[in-house]
Amino acid sequence: MSRVQDTIVSRRSIYRFEEGPVDIASLETAFEAARHAPCHKQTHPWKFYVLGKEARSSMIPEIERLAREKAAGRGEDEIQEGIQKAISKILSPPVLLVVTSALTPEDDFREMEDYAATACSVQNLALSLWDQGIGSQWSTGGITRSDFVYEALGISPMKEKIVGFVKAGYPAAIPEIEKKSIAEIREYLP
Ligand SMILES: Cc1cc2nc3c(=O)[nH]c(=O)nc-3n(C[C@H](O)[C@H](O)[C@H](O)COP(=O)(O)O)c2cc1C
Repeated sequence: MSRVQDTIVSRRSIYRFEEGPVDIASLETAFEAARHAPCHKQTHPWKFYVLGKEARSSMIPEIERLAREKAAGRGEDEIQEGIQKAISKILSPPVLLVVTSALTPEDDFREMEDYAATACSVQNLALSLWDQGIGSQWSTGGITRSDFVYEALGISPMKEKIVGFVKAGYPAAIPEIEKKSIAEIREYLP
């Protein structure tokens, strides 16, 4: 198997990270891969925000509100536990990125193609990280759709759409998952 094929096939979403940091040079290598993703009309619709401590902390009130909403009807202890877990998911990953894709309200087809291109660029990033031994996970929890988060991070909801958060770090565990077989996803037509 070629190294590229092996990187693609072996990559898994990583949910638990070692505490150690990821150095900037490794991240920049991944952004180099991300910026080479294909995009129709050379729109380069993707943008990656690397969240430092301050930016992460600015989202805490909203994370707390969403966690409370999710745990509605449960006891206060359970609610507090949910809040702490949600906050930790934002504060603990060694790297936390927000990925946005450019909006073009006047052209739905362009926006759809741009979203596809941004997804390609996220995958380029994930594969480059994996090639360097670094795991990542794309996440689309409620905070990706929160006005509060756009405001807190200074992202214009008129110009960009948050398509996800990407957590990254050295893997503490690599999950095993089942994928569909080739026979299930491929059909040769005459
Ligand atoms: C667009 C997108 C959004 C995702 N959002 C989440 C999420 O919110 N939470 C989560 O646990 N995993 C999320 N994932 C990761 C998927 O659950 C994961 O890719 C899937 O289980 C397949 O595993 P693999 O990435 O190891 O092949 C997302 C993946 C993609 C592509």
